Amino acid sequence: MNWDDSHGEQAAELTGLAPELAGQGTADRLVGAEVDGEEQAIEAALRPKDLGEFVGQERVREQLDLVLRAARQRGGTADHVLLSGAPGLGKTTLSLIIAAEMAAPIRITSGPAIQHAGDLAAILSSLAEGEVLFLDEIHRMSRPAEEMLYMAMEDFRVDVIVGKGPGATAIPLELPPFTLVGATTRAGLLPPPLRDRFGFTGHMEFYAASELERVIHRSARLLDVEIEAPGATEIAGRSRGTPRIANRLLRRVRDYAQVKADGVITKDIASRALAVYDVDARGLDRLDRAVLTALLKLFGGGPVGLSTLAVAVGEERETVEEVAEPFLVREGLLARTPRGRVGTPAAWAHLGLTPPQGQRSGPQAGLFNG
Ligand SMILES: Nc1ncnc2c1ncn2[C@@H]1O[C@H](COP(=O)(O)OP(=O)(O)OP(=O)(O)O)[C@@H](O)[C@H]1O
Ligand SMILES: [Mg+2]
Repeated sequence: MNWDDSHGEQAAELTGLAPELAGQGTADRLVGAEVDGEEQAIEAALRPKDLGEFVGQERVREQLDLVLRAARQRGGTADHVLLSGAPGLGKTTLSLIIAAEMAAPIRITSGPAIQHAGDLAAILSSLAEGEVLFLDEIHRMSRPAEEMLYMAMEDFRVDVIVGKGPGATAIPLELPPFTLVGATTRAGLLPPPLRDRFGFTGHMEFYAASELERVIHRSARLLDVEIEAPGATEIAGRSRGTPRIANRLLRRVRDYAQVKADGVITKDIASRALAVYDVDARGLDRLDRAVLTALLKLFGGGPVGLSTLAVAVGEERETVEEVAEPFLVREGLLARTPRGRVGTPAAWAHLGLTPPQGQRSGPQAGLFNG
């Protein structure tokens, strides 16, 4: 396979899917999935092309390396692989790497794009031997397609239904051996029978700051941007453990360095640039801070219901719940309790606010029970 050719196609295909895959956040957010073509092309260009270039995720990388090496030695096709983890951690990147390491072509599609079992049958029956089928957002596939996939994964066979009604017949169709790579941000939503049919499951973790620094230095080299080590550290610390965000912030800081300075990214330039883009020292952006500020200032730290909180910041419930909250919860700034959302002592400290009398000495803790 010619990597560059196929990569262009893949980028186009992914762009086509973007609205479905994005499904999160407003367009001006720096952390959401991007729909902009040029940015996508840059993202594709920054993708590591083999396991050696892939930073971090030591466990997954080592395990996957063994799976692929063994398959290569046998001259066979690699077992089906499931990759799970938050957006932007490298699932798509790894799937492209799997194909590259196996010197196999790759077909890219996604759960939401497969409405009918017939759509899947068409894809499966046109696979070449050894081809990698990348199924993004696999948890969003329709039920009938899922059932067809079970058989395809296990027996490399599908039943194609011909005709309608009582006259319909199922024609079994042999498939060439292929490798399914499924990706999901919500592994918990996968039905167990599907999960069990994967020979290998890699769970992607958030990246350590030192790993993100390596990602940033690598990307800076590819973008031909000069960056000092403290500048990279500054960006890494605000990237929410996510390479996609690290790369995006790097590009915005590069813009600033180019327009406002001599193009070199220093610690000072990085922190001034990120202030312009409303990304604070901990990586919170405007929406995150709006949610926290409302929670603390308007509702005294909670508990307050999600809908009320969403109205207070003028956003959809889903945006607050799926875009802002996961990061705030992970950072220990916000807690979801049965009685509603609660700001933690760390949230008060982060925004430089003082909790109302009586909360300071710790009754907050009581809210976390149950
Ligand atoms: N381990 C890594 N080393 C270097 N760069 C990485 C790594 N993982 C991801 N990236 C970079 O982050 C960007 C996003 O990665 P990718 O698209 O693979 O994420 P994803 O897990 O598929 O996200 P989503 O769930 O939104 O589809 C890529 O452009 C890639 O350059
Ligand atoms: Mg992806």
